[in-house]
Amino acid sequence: MKALEIIGNRELTGTLTIAGAKNSAVALIPAAILADDLVTIYNIPDIADTKALCDILTYLGVKIKKDKETLILDPKNINNKKIDERLSKKLRASYYFMGALLGKYKRVQMYFPGGCSIGLRPINLHLKGFEALGATVTQEGNCYIVEAEKLKGADIYLDFASVGATINIMLAAVKATGKTIIDNAAKEPEIVNVATFLNNMGAKITGAGTSTIIIDGVDSLHGCFHEVIPDRIEAGTYLIIGALCGKNLKIKNVIPEHLEALISKMSEMGVDMQIGQDYIEVTKKEKYKPVNIKTLTYPGFPTDLQQPFMTLLTQCLGKSTIEETIWENRFMQVPYLNNMGAKIEIVGQKACINGPTLLTGCEVEATDLRAGASLVAAGLLASGKTIIKNVEHILRGYEQIVEKLTNVGAKIEIKEID
Ligand code: EPZ
Repeated sequence: MKALEIIGNRELTGTLTIAGAKNSAVALIPAAILADDLVTIYNIPDIADTKALCDILTYLGVKIKKDKETLILDPKNINNKKIDERLSKKLRASYYFMGALLGKYKRVQMYFPGGCSIGLRPINLHLKGFEALGATVTQEGNCYIVEAEKLKGADIYLDFASVGATINIMLAAVKATGKTIIDNAAKEPEIVNVATFLNNMGAKITGAGTSTIIIDGVDSLHGCFHEVIPDRIEAGTYLIIGALCGKNLKIKNVIPEHLEALISKMSEMGVDMQIGQDYIEVTKKEKYKPVNIKTLTYPGFPTDLQQPFMTLLTQCLGKSTIEETIWENRFMQVPYLNNMGAKIEIVGQKACINGPTLLTGCEVEATDLRAGASLVAAGLLASGKTIIKNVEHILRGYEQIVEKLTNVGAKIEIKEID
């Protein structure tokens, strides 16, 4: 098994460059099949999730050319066959092939997606949207068949501002006949990035980034060029690491406005940050004020940063709290942080973090992607050696994390352990 080995308590200084956003790229790659011609996407992050999606494209007969962070996709000879479980289980975002294949061929057959075990992760809102557009959904065990004679625009209200459902309904609706309105749509920057991509192909989408998205169906979609926005969650994770161990640690290729909630909370704590047009520079301070956060949909505090942020809160002078409102099982890093010396109690969906606490390295386990990030942050701060097992979870979402951290002074490497 592979594990991360970190020798902590080192000052991190220098420049770290942020990659393209995982949660945008994993939607753009399936969405590319909607085009009738070549699609070029720049700034694709080099992570396991994008590789897994490219495997599905290849399985479907899409030709792929990859040149560093650029993907050139040729969807002209797709074979719309059933996507087998081995492929769709690798990640949550495989479900975007539902919206894309339904939108293009009016039929898709695939298995329930995979993804981190942070909750039940139902897809009822996705399926409700497909049915509203005129599709029928048949479930055979874990396999879904979604098909429609005709896709017709509809008014769709989302019970929850779901990122995945918003994007998947957009993908299914771009070629439907007539107008689709998505009410209570998610407003994350990744939604805007996907809507802009579809509009570059000739779709007619307005309102992305607001809670009402309007899609006027078109007959065909042509090839295009597009760029993935910077990953606000990767950036936020390294900003948190900088507040723990940094000295003028410069995080480049950042859109600060996408990190407003995190920056505001870190300023409230007293974190020393210099914010530029496309970078943030951060230096560790000894004393941080405790704060309380509640995870919300964008632009609220992002649930994906709750876990690494919890590690930072272990260094505040007093009691901080985190209320997780999006996922029902997103505190799995807590026992491991407590083994390292943190003092965190959980009551229901609320965590109370008492600080400051000295952290000491030990053997821990990544249970999911962002819990893994939380443990990397803790290992970089802690005295001694930290071994993080199940490193695969972390490599799914953080491009070249070992190289990026080594380049700014960390002692971190991937090791084979028995
Ligand atoms: C996306 O997941 C992200 N993943 C998640 O990031 C992120 O935590 C989440 O949005 C919220 O911001 C990707 O983009 C690949 P949701 P998604 O649909 O789309 C409920 C990471 O660490 N819900 O917005 O799956 C659901 O149970 C990952 O990068 C339904 O009830 O999230 C949850 O409580 C983890 N029915 C809430 O909505 C549905 O049909 C938010 O889910 C869909 C969702």
